[in-house]
Amino acid sequence: MVNTHRKLILNIYCSAIILPQICICSQFTSSSNDQYNENPGVFPVATNGEPFPWRELRLPTKVIPLHYDLFVHPNLTSLDFVASEKIEVLVRDTTQFIILHSHGLEIMNATLQSEEDLRYKKSGEKLTVLSYPAHQQIALLVPEKLMADLRYSVAIDFQAKLADGFEGFYKSTYRTLGGETRTIAVTDFEPTHARMAFPCFDEPLFKANFSIKIRRESRHIALSNMPKVKTIEREGGLLEDHFETTVKMSTYLVAYIVCDFASVSGTASSGVKVSIYASPDKWSQTHYALEASLKLLDFYENYFNIHYPLPKLDLVAIPDFESGAMENWGLVTYRETSLLFDPKTSSTSDKLWVTKVIAHELAHQWFGNLVTMEWWNDIWLNEGFATYMELISVNVTYPELQFDNIFLNDCFEVIKSDSLNSSRPVSKQAETPTQIQEMFDDISYKKGACLLNMLKDFLSEEKFKKGIIHYLKKFSYRNAKNDDLWSSLSNSCLESDFTSGGFCYSDSKTTSNTLTFLEENVEVKDIMTTWTRQKGIPLVVVEQEGRLLKLRQERFLNGVFRDDPEWGALQERYLWHIPVTYSTSSSNAIHRHLLTSKTDTLYLPEKTSWVKLNVDSNGYYIVHYEAHGWDQLIAVLNQNHTLLRPKDRIGLIHDAFQLVSIPSDVLKIVYSVGAQTTEGWNYLLEQYGLSLSGAEKNKILYALSTSKHQEKLIKLIDLGMEGKVIKTQDLASLLYAIARNPKGQQLAWNFVKENWTHLLERFELSSFPMRIIISGTTSHFSSKDELQEVKLFFESLQTQGSYLEIFQIVLETISKNIKWLEKNLPSLRNWLLISI
Ligand code: BES
Ligand code: ZN
Repeated sequence: MVNTHRKLILNIYCSAIILPQICICSQFTSSSNDQYNENPGVFPVATNGEPFPWRELRLPTKVIPLHYDLFVHPNLTSLDFVASEKIEVLVRDTTQFIILHSHGLEIMNATLQSEEDLRYKKSGEKLTVLSYPAHQQIALLVPEKLMADLRYSVAIDFQAKLADGFEGFYKSTYRTLGGETRTIAVTDFEPTHARMAFPCFDEPLFKANFSIKIRRESRHIALSNMPKVKTIEREGGLLEDHFETTVKMSTYLVAYIVCDFASVSGTASSGVKVSIYASPDKWSQTHYALEASLKLLDFYENYFNIHYPLPKLDLVAIPDFESGAMENWGLVTYRETSLLFDPKTSSTSDKLWVTKVIAHELAHQWFGNLVTMEWWNDIWLNEGFATYMELISVNVTYPELQFDNIFLNDCFEVIKSDSLNSSRPVSKQAETPTQIQEMFDDISYKKGACLLNMLKDFLSEEKFKKGIIHYLKKFSYRNAKNDDLWSSLSNSCLESDFTSGGFCYSDSKTTSNTLTFLEENVEVKDIMTTWTRQKGIPLVVVEQEGRLLKLRQERFLNGVFRDDPEWGALQERYLWHIPVTYSTSSSNAIHRHLLTSKTDTLYLPEKTSWVKLNVDSNGYYIVHYEAHGWDQLIAVLNQNHTLLRPKDRIGLIHDAFQLVSIPSDVLKIVYSVGAQTTEGWNYLLEQYGLSLSGAEKNKILYALSTSKHQEKLIKLIDLGMEGKVIKTQDLASLLYAIARNPKGQQLAWNFVKENWTHLLERFELSSFPMRIIISGTTSHFSSKDELQEVKLFFESLQTQGSYLEIFQIVLETISKNIKWLEKNLPSLRNWLLISI
């Protein structure tokens, strides 16, 4: 077949006992033809001018990795590393080349050995290496075809500088109390940065085992995913740590660190050794994290009924870290403020954040590490679940933190962005590294988690838990997609359901995924795809007429009203399967109904004075009460508000006002008042430099950014760009805070425009900080001129080839602000005049 792609889904029966080496194959879709041999003319050009034999962004699946032997030697003085690896691969289909990811690495040598060569200790055959940087790929050309079903070993020597930013294998620095600056080397790979540290099959589906060796100086220690097996002395006084081989895992979860950190350790009930590492001067701030991680690890092992499979778990506070934390298997890395707790300066909300982040990353050890999404389009399976599990675990381990409220707030937060037309569906195609990076947003995390919470409420906690355990066990050490989750949840009936007639499988022998809900057949998949494939949030409009309850659903769009000309078009083809719940004045019962059509009518079992929808705000929908609905609820609240449950009252306020967001931190306000005088501001800046508490530093930085003096704000930005006193990792939150200050709004925006290229030297375009900088300095604008200015700037970036989804979100937000002002300015003016 010439130049066509025939997709084969291999139906290999996967039994780990009979065919362990082939088992992996069943998860791959294979393209059966060798693109290169059939039409070499249409291929991209490698850096040396030769045709590069692969044109897709995703790797071919003819060759898959089984095991990596990785040796790394970072030099923390010259700030570079030399490394080598041996990848054992299985050839599934005859081919003449191996494509690997590699980004910014200098490949010195590549050789290949067959199993026979290895057996007879024959040295490797040198391979030609081609490089195609646009796709961050290299091609290893083999002199003779690699044969199907055989294993080969690919050896590669390579080197690079330790990266300057926050991705790949990068350097991070910290200052000791004595004023000395020290350097450490650390990895951060998710989603596509393992390729910056070693050539690899850098896609989540290519799971393999990793044996890691790190060479270091004796003043340092080395950490990796697994415990150390031995240390060998090498020439020049160097030491080499060998780590145990990992379980089967994706490349983005590999991690190693060379540092001089101190630690505290404890043992979980199951015997897993848990350690918290921080720079030596911050050692005293590690104790809360140890307590919390031991409690949470115990919780998860019990809850999932699946052991954490590694012998140890390290949690490390990294001085320079781009995101909040990263769940590397067995070696979780954190921003210092996400792990360290200083009882003297940290507040209750700091403690809550540390607990939340630990709970999140530990949940990933199951959701994400043990079972990984097939591809990044379903990253919500990782992030949504980890966010949902925060709720389940923290509620049990730290009930006093009242995590329910935080979770509800997360749902309200994401509703804000999901009710803009520029929102996106939970599952969305993502191919390029930029598109993949953009998937790590509130929709994956918060909407994902809120949908899972809604589904749990619909199925009952017990059935939901059974279903997710089924999913975790079935897909352990493998990859899964949305549909796999839905079918595991459908197959999770309690034994009693088959006889009791609740809502579950109608027949235990059936192989379909049907549940019986209120005597009707429903499928979890049918319900949930309406939530994951459509963007946005529904509005349920309810009208009570005697014992009739009329329901209607429409798409809710913030700032777009029924009488707007675009309303109709924006509603087209939107329909959700909404698990509606309601309570009434006449009983404590929770009534349930699955609204699958645009309109529906229900009969209330008895006469009732009021109806409240969305019990405990568990549903991902907004409710509007027509006719006297709102009045009746207001009357109840006035008469005896305790007749409605607390989360129902919160939900009513949210739905009525479309916002709630949180009493601000008192300490922050106190510092901000202090920052208004020059002496106070200078004093706070000095304290900022001296403070060892990240939590306190955050508060001081916020206070400093509220100054009315522009020259002070400029100084802060300069310090942030310099990266010494104010670390570059904090530049995004600094610019965000300055843009919230009326004296800083224009300043922050001008800075971003004028220093765009300098910012890009520090952060990747699609990185989280860059997206915060873009939206933080623009989305509060509310005039047509400002809109035009921002639009022109984004267009100029687009013509340079940089496009981000956030551009569209910002433009829509500003348009909405303009519209809101146009509509409300006269009455606001009026109101202000009256109140004066
Ligand atoms: N897996 C993410 C880290 C990550 C974020 C990788 C963005 C790639 C891109 C990690 O589990 C995570 O979600 N971290 C959060 C903290 C969490 C408590 C919400 C973060 O970094 O903000
Ligand atoms: Zn996460």
